[in-house]
Amino acid sequence: MSRIAYVNGRYVPHRDAAVHVEDRGYQFADGVYEVCEVRGGRLVDERRHMERLRRSLAELRIAEPMPLNALGVILRETVQRNRVRDGIVYLQATRGVAPRDHGFPPAGTRPSVVVTARNHDRARNEKTAAEGIPVITVPENRWPRVDIKSVSLLPNVLAKQAAREAGAKEAWFVDRDGTITEGASTNAWIVTSAGTVVTRPTTSAILRGITLTVLLDVLAAHGLKLEERPFTVEEAYAAREAFITSASQIVMPVVSIDGRPVANGAPGLLSAALRRDFHAHAEID
Ligand code: PDD
Repeated sequence: MSRIAYVNGRYVPHRDAAVHVEDRGYQFADGVYEVCEVRGGRLVDERRHMERLRRSLAELRIAEPMPLNALGVILRETVQRNRVRDGIVYLQATRGVAPRDHGFPPAGTRPSVVVTARNHDRARNEKTAAEGIPVITVPENRWPRVDIKSVSLLPNVLAKQAAREAGAKEAWFVDRDGTITEGASTNAWIVTSAGTVVTRPTTSAILRGITLTVLLDVLAAHGLKLEERPFTVEEAYAAREAFITSASQIVMPVVSIDGRPVANGAPGLLSAALRRDFHAHAEID
């Protein structure tokens, strides 16, 4: 089956899907994006993803390309046209096409919108989750507004590649004070030896993950102890469990950090339970 992409008002074969060379997303990474999980053909937490998209656009003063419920229709249509059951749908909105000039383009320039969707290999993801993943740490070198889900991801790209070259699956950024901010494309969590779940508060130093937000509800529902505070690399080394969260990976256990096993080096029981429970708390429609 051939893949279909939505590009600025048209559904086109994926292989032909293209934006103009002077799209500001291409020229300046002047755009924002969202990744929403698709499960059983349905969108997971669309409302929260759309709210975050609205916020990202507003923070960068990019006009909303269309009413957000119309964008929702396009997300669903793209999912259907690609027959996605379990996977992701990706949406990108940029400040549009205009002659290259750093300042904003003329008023009335239409934002560009691209939507793609693809299936994930659910069985393979479950196998990865059953084994857990290694992560490494890298120095934080991003701008101070990573709360905006912008497509400017160069430090994240370099960090992820460093992880790959070290045989790991994710890189955790470490602030100057020795605390972990988040992963290159995920939020970071630990469980202390006392059983407290710890994750960084969602200030402008991290992206407020939708998965993180829902997981806070899961933790509350189970009456688990939570501390939203920065945690150090040393604490992470000494943790009983560690895991990452994102729309595409949900809860993914971390079994080593910088080559040191987390506890006995096997995925933690709590991480596995949170992964199992997640979708009972997410909004799926
Ligand atoms: N990444 N932190 C960063 C830097 C991210 O890029 C992401 C998401 C998250 C988790 O957010 P959420 O739970 O809303 O997916 C945290 C997406 C999936 C990506 O770039 O593919």
